[in-house]
Amino acid sequence: MTTTLITNIASLVTNDPAQGDGTPLGLLTNAAVVLEDEHIAWVGPAAKAPAADETYDAEGRAAIPGFVDSHSHLVFAGDRTQEFNARMSGRAYSAGGIRTTVAATRAATDEDLEANLTRYLAEALHQGTTTFETKSGYGLTTEDEARALRIAARHTDEVTFLGAHIVSPDYAEDPAAYVDLVTGPMLDACAPHARWIDVFCEKGAFDGDQARAILTAGKAKGLHPRIHANQLSYGPGVQLAVELDAASADHCTHLTDADVDALAQGNTVATLLPGAEFSTRAQWPDARRLLDAGATVALSTDCNPGSSFTSSVPFCIALAVRDMGMTPDEAIWSATAGGAAALRRTDIGVLREGTRADLALLDAPSHVHLAYRPGVPLVSGVWRRGVRQV
Ligand code: NIG
Ligand code: FE
Repeated sequence: MTTTLITNIASLVTNDPAQGDGTPLGLLTNAAVVLEDEHIAWVGPAAKAPAADETYDAEGRAAIPGFVDSHSHLVFAGDRTQEFNARMSGRAYSAGGIRTTVAATRAATDEDLEANLTRYLAEALHQGTTTFETKSGYGLTTEDEARALRIAARHTDEVTFLGAHIVSPDYAEDPAAYVDLVTGPMLDACAPHARWIDVFCEKGAFDGDQARAILTAGKAKGLHPRIHANQLSYGPGVQLAVELDAASADHCTHLTDADVDALAQGNTVATLLPGAEFSTRAQWPDARRLLDAGATVALSTDCNPGSSFTSSVPFCIALAVRDMGMTPDEAIWSATAGGAAALRRTDIGVLREGTRADLALLDAPSHVHLAYRPGVPLVSGVWRRGVRQV
C-alpha cells in the first residue's frame, strides 16, 4: 500500500457538500489530499494532514476532481474538415454527415481505430479527463458495431452501443428492417461488450416509436438506456428518456416546458454538449432554465468528427459559463459530479474518503480560472486511480 500526500492546495473542489464552504462544490482552502493506492484516503486542511510515503507540493495551485466526460464518440476513422468548412460558410449541420464517417470507419483496420482512440484519450487526459464514456455508431453492421465496442472496452468501462445512430445506408430503403437488425442480431452481438444503449432520436435518424423499441430491447438484454434527445429540433426524446428511466438525455437543446418539468421530476440527467452547438453554429442549450427548474445537469464534450471535434472539457466549461447561463461553480460541478451522475456512478466525480483517486491540478489559484481563462492549458497535473499521469 502506497500513500501520497498532495498538500498546499490553495483551493480544492471536493463536490462533497459536507466539506468546506457548505456549497455543492464543498470548497476547501489551504487543503490537502491523501491518496492510498487507487482511492482517496483523507481530505482536509493542509495543517492537519497525516504523513504519507510520498509528498507532492501543489505550491498554491487549485485542484478539482478529474473530469467525467459522459458523452463521446471516439471510435471512428477520418475527419470531416470539408463539412466543417462548408458549415462555417453557411451550410446547416445534418445527421447525414454521419455516413461519411461510417464509410471511413468501416474501411479502417482495428489498429487504426485503436490508435485514433488512444490519441484522443491522451488529449482528453492532458485536459483533466479521468473517466470517459464512448460509443459505437460509426459501423452500423453487426460486425463493425461489435468491433467498435470491443476496442472501446479495452479503454473504459463506460461503453455504449449506438447501432441506432442513423439508419445504415445499407437499409436506406427499409428502415424497419434496420430497426429489426439493431434490436435483434446486432444487439445480441453487442450487448456483451457494452453497459449502455443509446439512440439518436431525431428527424432524419429514429422517431420516438423506433427509439422506444430499441431502448426497450436493450433493457431486456441488460443494457441501461441513454438518449441523444432534442438536439436539432423539438421531439419525443426527452420524455421517452424520463419514462424509461434513462441515466441521461443528451443535448437537450430544444425543450418545451413539459420536457424541462419531466427532467426536473425524473431521475434522468440532462447532459449538455456545448461543443456541438459551437461547431454547428446552433442555438445554445439553456442550462439556466434546467437548473432553475431543479434538473441535474452534466456537461460533456460529445467529441466526434462531425458535430463537436473537441476533447476539451475546459473548453465546454468556458462555453457553458459564457453562453448557457451557468456559473463557474455550476459548470465545474456538472463536468465532474454531473458527469458521474449521468453514468450513475458515486465512486467518481467526488473527492472524499473512499472515492477514486482521480484529480486534476490547475496552474491557477482557483477553479474559476477554467472559465475565466478560456483556451489556456491550465491542467498541470492529473492523477488517475492514484497514479500520476500528467
Ligand atoms: O452527438 N447527434 C448525433 N450524433 C453526434 C454527431 C455525430 C456526427 O455528426 O458524426 C452528436 O452530435
Ligand atoms: Fe453525441
